[in-house]
Amino acid sequence: MTGPVSMRRDGEIAVIEIDSPPVNALSHPVRAGIAVCMAEALADDSVKGVALTCLGRTFCAGADITEFDKPPMAPMLTEVINTIEASPKPVVAALHGTALGGGFELPLGCHFRVAAPSAAVGLPEVKLGILPGAGGTQRLPRLIGLEAALQRIVTGAQIPAQEALALGAVDEIIEGDLTAGALAFLRSALAENHPLRPTRDRNDKTSNANLAAFDALSTKLTAKSRGLKAPAMCAESVRNAATMPFDDALQRERQIFETLRDGDQSKAQRHIFFAERAAQKIEDMPRGTKGRPITQAAVLGAGAMGGGIAMCFADAGLPVTLIDQSEEAVGAGVDLIRANYQRSATSGRVSEAEMAQRLALITPSTTFADVATADIVIEAVFEDMALKKRLFADLDAACKPGAILATNTSTLDVDAIAAATQRPQDVLGLHFFSPANVMRLLEIVRAQHTTHDVLKTAIDLGRKMGKAPVTVGVCHGFVGNRMLHARGRQVEQLLLEGATPTHLDAALTNFGFPMGPCAMSDLAGLDVSWRVRREAGLTAAVADAICERGWFGQKTSRGYFRYEQGSRRPVADPEVEALISTIAQTQNAAPRAISEREVFERLVFPMINEAADILAEGVAARASDIDVVWVFGYGWPIGTGGPMRYAETLGVKAIFSSLMRYSDQTEDPSLAPGSALTQWATSGEPPSVA
Ligand code: CAA
Repeated sequence: MTGPVSMRRDGEIAVIEIDSPPVNALSHPVRAGIAVCMAEALADDSVKGVALTCLGRTFCAGADITEFDKPPMAPMLTEVINTIEASPKPVVAALHGTALGGGFELPLGCHFRVAAPSAAVGLPEVKLGILPGAGGTQRLPRLIGLEAALQRIVTGAQIPAQEALALGAVDEIIEGDLTAGALAFLRSALAENHPLRPTRDRNDKTSNANLAAFDALSTKLTAKSRGLKAPAMCAESVRNAATMPFDDALQRERQIFETLRDGDQSKAQRHIFFAERAAQKIEDMPRGTKGRPITQAAVLGAGAMGGGIAMCFADAGLPVTLIDQSEEAVGAGVDLIRANYQRSATSGRVSEAEMAQRLALITPSTTFADVATADIVIEAVFEDMALKKRLFADLDAACKPGAILATNTSTLDVDAIAAATQRPQDVLGLHFFSPANVMRLLEIVRAQHTTHDVLKTAIDLGRKMGKAPVTVGVCHGFVGNRMLHARGRQVEQLLLEGATPTHLDAALTNFGFPMGPCAMSDLAGLDVSWRVRREAGLTAAVADAICERGWFGQKTSRGYFRYEQGSRRPVADPEVEALISTIAQTQNAAPRAISEREVFERLVFPMINEAADILAEGVAARASDIDVVWVFGYGWPIGTGGPMRYAETLGVKAIFSSLMRYSDQTEDPSLAPGSALTQWATSGEPPSVA
């Protein structure tokens, strides 16, 4: 036994077992353990072959990411892999769970790879702002070809076992006992006695690569990197597999890895990796709290949001009843769902068979009483408190005991909605983000009486749906939309001062947002926030005037921008710009030229100001939860790590001073730093609940 790695014998085969929960990450003790076991196996003449296996839920999930900020400790993973690859005795890796990153690079250096049918492999390093730094960009192309490897490495996509087999990344799928299958595979390889072919020497798929086709694919895949450096660097390194000797290319891969790892983008992306996981922990939740079983769901409201939520259930393999009042409404909802799935099928994201399976899980209904069989009901009707209260009273009467009643409200008081029922302990907010089947954020709104097991169910459900769940407290707009409103006030103000929707959007897209505030409102539907404003007794001169003309954004082909038939590309609309000038004149606002930096700071800094209040009030439990909300719900550029990390990087004092200056210049009190931001700027510590 060598720490987390041990070796046992099965006849002439040495079986190396890695046991390092939770995910067998390749930490220093694991690397050292493998190295010691390999050395023993190589020195022992009675060992004819080696099988590399992992205990627990998965094969290695990659390098230990927590070690990236520490001094490197030998043996490095590359050395371990080189030893295995150079071994005169065949080594087979037996893969189950997810063999990712270094956890796939290690098997890539083995002579053979066998996998359980449910396993998946992949090189997801790009999602951490780095590239596979232990030979992955050189060995994977040698096994599956340059373009196939490029596609997987630049996107970080997981490759299911069957696909890996078809591509040549895996040699055999083992049904039944994986280790027994791996040993049988190795014994038959030993019996055949073919000379071993280390992956580094297999050049047949890279030597004649079509570099023009490779470059075209590379340009296409990296086109939407939004300022992230890793995708293009991944592509450069994969290309080297065809143009450089193996050892030189490996050295270059290492250089790129170290540059990216030490750069701010990767640090920010690693911050988000851990932030996403931290957000799923609720401090006061007793250990061992179990969620309630969910086998049947219902969604009320078959609009775009309700339909998207129904798709989330179907994508997670859960049957869901989609309920609306009329055949027409529910039919339109199902048509939209079908069209969305069809788009995914056409682009290859799901197969036709998967699409059919998922559609079959969605049952349309016009009968409210169908909620009776559901373990969870999510209400996704209009943002209208009176309507929601009525609906929750009806749900209380119709749902079975123990059913979870969730509202998808984006702003309203979940405590007030829960109070309309006799079971407030079962009520919470589940706030999905539009389009619900695409955006990863799920705000779980914890109301006053929501119980821990209900929260746990929601977190587990969110994970099953592939979401990034973040638990937040009750307040107008929760975390995401409350900060969005702070930005929205400045959108109005900046437009009245002379900026155009195009200018506003450019300030944020140039920072790395996929779209600016005006295009985003057009996508979400301007009528939605109009209704919210009216509900709250608020007005917004420009946005209200646009809505009064019936221009609700993309759905009406006009909003802040115009949209050509069938296009989602915003086009500047002179009529809207003229309308804004007219409103500005009536308000005696004199137009002026506003720099992009001012636009940016006035859109972003008020959000950070609001976030400080959110933290001080305990609406978010941690600063990093707010980062998760904005990265996964609103497309905040991940390479800066979210608004709170960005604020720390920029310096909270600088943000404080800018806000002071803008609030003086504009006499807009909403721009003034609040007490929480002031305290943060002074103490250097983000606020927390006293
Ligand atoms: N290093 C350190 N810790 C890791 C880790 C890693 N590679 N992968 C997961 N963990 C930790 C998580 O932080 C989490 O810790 P807490 O319980 O304390 O929050 C715990 O393991 C369980 O992780 P998940 O909650 O994510 O578990 P899951 O079952 O939902 O998912 C997984 C498992 C798919 C493996 C997922 O954890 C994952 O995607 N991990 C990262 C994989 C990855 O990016 N690998 C590449 C690493 S970089 C690399 O390998 C560079 C190289 O070239 C050598």
